[in-house]
Amino acid sequence: MPSLAILSLALTTQASASCTRALLKSATSAYITAQTSGQPNLLPHISNLSYIENDVHVPITQGLLSQPLTIDLHHSLHDTTTCTTFTELSCATNPHPYVIHTRLFVADDRVTSIQSVISDAGDWLFNATGHLYWSSTETWTPIPEPLRDTRAIIQAAGDLYLDSWGNGSLKAPYGTPCHRIEGGAYTDTRRTGNNTCFMPEFPQPFKITKRDYVIDEVVGGLGIFNDFPFIDMMRPDGTTSTNLFRIEEGRIRYIHEVTICQTRNCGR
Ligand SMILES: *[C@@H]1O[C@H](CO)[C@@H](O)[C@H](O)[C@H]1NC(C)=O
Ligand SMILES: *[C@@H]1O[C@H](CO)[C@@H](O)[C@H](O)[C@H]1NC(C)=O
Ligand SMILES: *[C@@H]1O[C@H](CO)[C@@H](O)[C@H](O)[C@H]1NC(C)=O
Ligand SMILES: *[C@@H]1O[C@H](CO)[C@@H](O)[C@H](O)[C@H]1NC(C)=O
Repeated sequence: MPSLAILSLALTTQASASCTRALLKSATSAYITAQTSGQPNLLPHISNLSYIENDVHVPITQGLLSQPLTIDLHHSLHDTTTCTTFTELSCATNPHPYVIHTRLFVADDRVTSIQSVISDAGDWLFNATGHLYWSSTETWTPIPEPLRDTRAIIQAAGDLYLDSWGNGSLKAPYGTPCHRIEGGAYTDTRRTGNNTCFMPEFPQPFKITKRDYVIDEVVGGLGIFNDFPFIDMMRPDGTTSTNLFRIEEGRIRYIHEVTICQTRNCGR
């Protein structure tokens, strides 16, 4: 199996295998190819790769990465500080529709771990057609360098949003416009261009303690793998969830939430 560095032309001029954006881009591009064809070996990885779906370890040969999927839309974040990536796959026209958020861990030119949150029918407000339709309207182009936020500011914006769910006196830094795609439901269907992201305090206080971040300063991207307490009647202490953000000048522009439910629509 070739290493990512060999797949990444931009790296051939570099002496050592540091974690560059080019290396991470070759990883997300190989991931898309592997998932499209259902062949995990097209993604250069260590032999004892850790493969996790919805917080459960699965043999990769039995995982979704071993099944070909029609991918209608994807975009990726590349975090050169932690050497991880975040990819969103919108698979609305696949015979079995999915929306997937995946984190890759890269070390020494190979993927060492794959963590996917895989949503389908019955998960929170799931609608892959809606997800595809509304995410197609978004712009994820690089933010001009002088306007880029630091990692700390990008992470703080997402953290404050999650914190505000359990404590309404905390004000999340919503921008205008701001929209959220929650499962496949969209907050600005009337296309007002206003801030439609506001999340009121939940009927019961809770704190989201488990959070893992992928941060891409170039596109103002933040992916959080978080536990979501309260929402799932069957798992009140927390179910698997992810939130993908675009942050512009410290303010939230887009939110995509994926939440896995044990029973249909989390029993709500
Ligand atoms: C894979 O094996 C190597 C060498 O034995 C070990 O250092 C590493 O921790 C293992 N990685 C995983 C993800 O299990
Ligand atoms: C899913 O989203 C599409 C596009 O917004 C919409 O036309 C359709 O009615 C939605 N389906 C359901 C079941 O809500
Ligand atoms: C909610 O946030 C406010 C403002 O930071 C803080 O003073 C208060 O202690 C928080 N409440 C709880 C229950 O954590
Ligand atoms: C946008 O928000 C402003 C301020 O709240 C409000 O006056 C206006 O009516 C909203 N626009 C639309 C199209 O809803």
